[in-house]
Amino acid sequence: MNIAIPVETDANEPRVAATPDTVKRLVGLGATVTVESGAGNNAGIPDAEFAAAGAKVASGAKAALADADIVLKVRRPAKAELSAYKPGALLIGMLDPFGNDAAIGELAGAKLIAFTMEFLPRITRAQGMDVLSSQANLAGYRAVIDASAEYGRALPMMMTAAGTVPAARVFVMGAGVAGLQAIATARRLGAVVTATDVRPAAKEQVESLGAKFVAVEDEEFKAAETAGGYAKEMSKAYQAKQAALVAEHIKKQDIVITTALIPGRPAPRLVSKAMVESMRPGSVLVDLAVERGGNVELAKPGEVANVNGVKIVGWLNVPGRLAATASSLYAKNLFAFLEPMFDKKTKAFAVPWDDEIVKATLLTKDGAVVHPSFKGGRP
Ligand code: NAI
Repeated sequence: MNIAIPVETDANEPRVAATPDTVKRLVGLGATVTVESGAGNNAGIPDAEFAAAGAKVASGAKAALADADIVLKVRRPAKAELSAYKPGALLIGMLDPFGNDAAIGELAGAKLIAFTMEFLPRITRAQGMDVLSSQANLAGYRAVIDASAEYGRALPMMMTAAGTVPAARVFVMGAGVAGLQAIATARRLGAVVTATDVRPAAKEQVESLGAKFVAVEDEEFKAAETAGGYAKEMSKAYQAKQAALVAEHIKKQDIVITTALIPGRPAPRLVSKAMVESMRPGSVLVDLAVERGGNVELAKPGEVANVNGVKIVGWLNVPGRLAATASSLYAKNLFAFLEPMFDKKTKAFAVPWDDEIVKATLLTKDGAVVHPSFKGGRP
């Protein structure tokens, strides 16, 4: 099998879908790996390291992709790139399919067998492949680092000869993978941390990290988790009660980090303009949901907005702000996805079409959009 790793063409994407470590392991499975020259540059991996791990280095996407049976990507390739792909090739990446039906149709039109890693089922066997978790974890960490960089004060309490510095109060909204890592990071930096979520399971997790849980714990809250472990969209009545509680709490916070998402839906709006304005100047909000519509009113994608001295950090692609670490985890996720498809003895490659993981992630095949979430089928 020929596996290719092209350069990511999106200007906002510094990550790469393979590392020297995963290249070595893929070669060990019997694959031939070709890396497009420069693919690792923005993640701190020079061509020479890929070559030393056993990859061929090709100049330009055309040369890298010409013989590729499997293409590993971070993001969905743009339409203009698809002519370089071999019909029938497997494309594996974070293809961001929701709301992008036309672009998914183009992948089908190019006769690619496309797998989107965001659709992995959250089952034990798939944990090592879970790109959402690996990247969200880093985003949660980085959100706290970015917040502390924008905050003009220290996070830990400090007792000095010149006086005592109080600990910063950090409020984390959404205690999934990113939120829990944000809580842990803020605690390590010495902040006093509170957190909220609509899933009842989050309460114990928040408390086990030493943070206080703040939420409207009514009947709706007790039932607010899907079988897959995700949040449901809450009723208008719940949202109003939640907003009242949050409004009171947020006034007293120094740093607010929002991470709330609902799969396939716009991010819930959790922090209103009035709430932002109730915070004291010098406070910082970091909106990790800014790419999905934003949890914070007035957040600007790709910018640090300033509202009466309150900063709202809206960086895009936050995992990409730790490109080397994010690439190493993402590349391992993709390797974990591919490894079971190789026969250890014969080195033969076969996709187990009936496997739960394959069925959940397969978007396009035989020229058609095949995933049940995209009914309507052929492009
Ligand atoms: P996510 O990225 O979809 O959402 C982030 C968080 O926002 C979630 O905790 C969600 O409940 C919360 N949220 C949504 N609406 C909200 C609102 N209105 N107010 C406050 N919070 C709101 O979720 P993520 O991080 O992907 O994780 C969801 C769950 O799945 C977690 O319990 C996580 O531990 C679990 N999980 C399980 C895995 C497995 O079993 N293999 C792997 C990864 C995560």
